[in-house]
Amino acid sequence: MEYSELIAARYSVRAYRPDPVEDEKLKTVLEAARLAPTAANRQPIQLIVMRTAGREEEIKKIYRRSWFVQAPLVIAVCTISSQAWVRESDKFNARLIDAAIVADHLILEATNLGLGTCWIAAFNAEAARSVLQLPDEVEPVVFTPLGYPADQPGLKIRKSLTDLVRYEHW
Ligand SMILES: Cc1cc2nc3c(=O)[nH]c(=O)nc-3n(C[C@H](O)[C@H](O)[C@H](O)COP(=O)(O)O)c2cc1C
Repeated sequence: MEYSELIAARYSVRAYRPDPVEDEKLKTVLEAARLAPTAANRQPIQLIVMRTAGREEEIKKIYRRSWFVQAPLVIAVCTISSQAWVRESDKFNARLIDAAIVADHLILEATNLGLGTCWIAAFNAEAARSVLQLPDEVEPVVFTPLGYPADQPGLKIRKSLTDLVRYEHW
């Protein structure tokens, strides 16, 4: 898909078909995540791929929407704070930016392959830690189902460029 087309085609998919995601497509999506840039190339990221089949009730504890477990796969993007780049001047830690870029790479490649995704940040962090058996230093940042869409994109409601962009100064 041409890049501008891809950007326009991605939407938050909130209904999925049960059809399996081909291993090759999963690999391509994970490879896109792997190639994402991270601050100082620290790569403080871990991805956890969960197969939903037979684990629906358990995985739903992370995010209580039926569509969350409709897709055959759910992917968690996690960070390890101590591995991330920290800006010296004010100690700003780049882990969440890194995680967001990795998630976006993954999500856009999924769109390119005809797969659906949905950024999910409103998950239950405690349940996520428990279901994923995360060690203390690992922080879950975003989840997405990965599967074939069973819904249609709605209208993209966005600020106009006039409302979004300033030139030269505030
Ligand atoms: C950081 C982030 C967190 C989000 N968390 C959720 C979420 O927890 N649940 C959900 O249904 N959608 C979530 N979304 C999806 C947004 O609601 C959606 O991207 C936005 O409304 C624009 O719609 P679109 O993705 O279809 O273009 C999240 C999106 C982002 C970028």
